[in-house]
Amino acid sequence: MKKTPSPRPGQSRAGHKTALRVAAEPTGSPMEPTVFFGLRTADPAMQRVFQIVRKAASSDVSVLLRGETGTGKELLAKALHELSPRQRGPFHAISCAALPASLLESELFGHVRGAFTGAVRDNPGHFRLANKGTLFLDEVAEMPLDVQAKLLRVLETHSVIPVGGQEPIAVDVRIVAATHKALRAEVEAGRFRADLMYRLRVVPIFIPTLRERKDDVLLLAQHFIFELNARGQRHIERIAPDAARRLRQHDWPGNVRELRNVIEYAFVIGEGPVLDIADLPPELHETAPPPRSAAPEPLAHSTSDGEEASRIQHALQSSAGHIGEAARKLGWSRVTLWRHIRRLGLAPAKKA
Ligand SMILES: Nc1ncnc2c1ncn2[C@@H]1O[C@H](COP(=O)(O)OP(=O)(O)O)[C@@H](O)[C@H]1O
Ligand SMILES: [Mg+2]
Repeated sequence: MKKTPSPRPGQSRAGHKTALRVAAEPTGSPMEPTVFFGLRTADPAMQRVFQIVRKAASSDVSVLLRGETGTGKELLAKALHELSPRQRGPFHAISCAALPASLLESELFGHVRGAFTGAVRDNPGHFRLANKGTLFLDEVAEMPLDVQAKLLRVLETHSVIPVGGQEPIAVDVRIVAATHKALRAEVEAGRFRADLMYRLRVVPIFIPTLRERKDDVLLLAQHFIFELNARGQRHIERIAPDAARRLRQHDWPGNVRELRNVIEYAFVIGEGPVLDIADLPPELHETAPPPRSAAPEPLAHSTSDGEEASRIQHALQSSAGHIGEAARKLGWSRVTLWRHIRRLGLAPAKKA
């Protein structure tokens, strides 16, 4: 008797329990995603990324994840940690883009009390907090050059000297770094140390953008709908064919994060069992050429914003907060109403 191979930890091949139909898609072959630590894909290049992560995890080498924002770098960094012998140790993440040099230095390496004004107590810093575990250095290309020099020294000596301190303190940390930039170009431009680049990118992993894996768009859209349906306020059963087409056409500069936000937007402003093209946010309409037949919606230039706001609020109140009904009363599409709500900073009314 043949035994079904059990999925390896973190990985499974499974569709959804509830089938969600995209009318435009052939119904015969449901897409079978690979699931890896919360990341889903049906794309071969992305599946290769999972394989490389799996292999790199077991060793202690530095991994550099290169990919646009929202492609899953942080989730992959966590997967590297979870699959590594350090899994019982801590996982710490720090963005090198958010902080000025001096603050980044003390966040990374710690400081002793009195090291600078405001240093009222010792701060261990992320390296020591991540001891015996993994430190995720996000947006590493943004790290200032003098901090890069100190980071290199830490990686080579396996010890940190906190800001204002004297004695080196031993640390045992595995580094996973991430960037959306080509580090080599940063090196050539003099903004990144070559020696540090080589130290960080022992295993470089390139994560494809969402626009390079178009089949994942609907697969992930269906997954996010599945998750939102579970909340209970609404149950989407289908994605209308023109909405599906528009989702596939979009460029997705924010990748999967953007897709999830778009689906959540549609879930909130739409109604009924079908995700309609009209429920998609304005930026998705702007990518397509405007249909010539559709006359521009009246934008009520003649009224002031205050009058506009009270007209919208009145319509929302008399529709018990139903966006669709309020839009009809105003003679607008839901998208136009939503745009005005956002422009005027009105609180989006909760649906009854
Ligand atoms: N392949 C994927 N499957 C499911 N969710 C994903 C996938 N890729 C990214 N996400 C989701 O998108 C968001 C951004 O992921 P993140 O790892 O923070 O990206 P990055 O660090 O590259 O900006 C997260 O909420 C994550 O859950
Ligand atoms: Mg990120």
